[in-house]
Amino acid sequence: MGVNAIDGLDVSQLIRKDAVNSRIYRDPAIFELEMERLFGRAWILVGHKSQVPHPGDYVTSRIGRTPVLIIRGEDGEIRVFYNRCTHRGARLCMMPSGSALRLVCPYHAWTYDTLGRLINVRLKEEYLEHLPYGDYGLRAVARVAQYRGFIFANKAPEGPGLLDFLGHMTTTIDDIVDRAPDDDVTVFPVPLRHRYRGNWKLTFENLNDTIHAGVAHAVIANAARNVLEGDVDAPKHPALHMMVANAKPVSFFQALDLVTAPNGHSYFGGHMGANYQPEVGDVYFQRLAAARGDARAREILAVDRHINLIYPGSTWQGRYQTVRLVHPLRVDLTEVVTFVCRLKGAPEGTFENALIYCNVASSALSSITTDDLEIYEAEQRLSSSLEDTWLPISRGMGAQRGQASDRELHAGTSEAYIRNQYRAWSAAMAVA
Ligand code: FES
Ligand SMILES: [Fe+2]
Repeated sequence: MGVNAIDGLDVSQLIRKDAVNSRIYRDPAIFELEMERLFGRAWILVGHKSQVPHPGDYVTSRIGRTPVLIIRGEDGEIRVFYNRCTHRGARLCMMPSGSALRLVCPYHAWTYDTLGRLINVRLKEEYLEHLPYGDYGLRAVARVAQYRGFIFANKAPEGPGLLDFLGHMTTTIDDIVDRAPDDDVTVFPVPLRHRYRGNWKLTFENLNDTIHAGVAHAVIANAARNVLEGDVDAPKHPALHMMVANAKPVSFFQALDLVTAPNGHSYFGGHMGANYQPEVGDVYFQRLAAARGDARAREILAVDRHINLIYPGSTWQGRYQTVRLVHPLRVDLTEVVTFVCRLKGAPEGTFENALIYCNVASSALSSITTDDLEIYEAEQRLSSSLEDTWLPISRGMGAQRGQASDRELHAGTSEAYIRNQYRAWSAAMAVA
């Protein structure tokens, strides 16, 4: 393991098999190293092709904290550039999305075409021969690749390709796209965004943590149960079952499977059972079966994973067509961008259900999300104001259930997914 430049500190000393040191959440120098060594080399989900259907369409996104610009060129190709003017380094596209065949910088109006070439410079005659235009096109992100329409980008010119990086997690993306009778999805053009004053890793440590739900979300689970079962005059949307399911007994979550995969990825089995199946309406099923055959349609709908983590950049819920991008902005500030996918060929009701689910479980107004955000912010304040301490990640250690190829199977209540994340984290951080 390499020693890096943080006060001569060996970052690997902050990670044990059974515990992590709280310094990793609050130290800006460690954050800088994460940006360079983890987010600087991983394949990060930046968007979906449906966000840029026509030449000149663009959306902004991030690789880690770095702003990037996804644009479809006049040649039909999708490219990813750093969202930075090559003149004085101003942000080129200020809006989250738009459409333009010429990108004009808001500072001094340097202008680029949709292929990123510099095509106009103000007072260009005063530069004489000192401005080689060809050197000042937009800087492209080193590698860009798509998997079933989802666009991933990688800052590093060398390293494993997207499919190697995803490995088994291609099935996570399949779990969304396969559900579309027309074998394609579009993302709703306006994503939900929220920020919390906490480290990005807190999100990844939370989203496969099944046992916090019955504690942290107990109040809302009880309220939802009252609506569903009590004499309350309110719509009984199936998404309420999501809240109630959070309060299932621990033995239920223990029985679920948690799957960990190389590169820090993981997911766990669904916990909604038959309670939440708005997609299995007759019309939808008939369309899916007509496209794929009856048996395959049943197989697709039977996939029941709750939350999938494609470490370190995105989280996925295929059954609810929700995808989240996690953008670390500072050591103590994180932005989460949430997309809802529309299944092409499915009845509109399927999409409406996904939107309602997203509002209930994933938006900044969701009572579930706000419970978690409050806890993240308190964790952050405490790790910043108290002395560094060891935080255990040993639940379920030594109790692996099985192995399938390069994947491990654990109990649904195990912290094996956190240990798996820190294996990937340590490996990335060790390489200069
Ligand atoms: S910084 Fe963009 S034109 Fe000057
Ligand atoms: Fe939660």
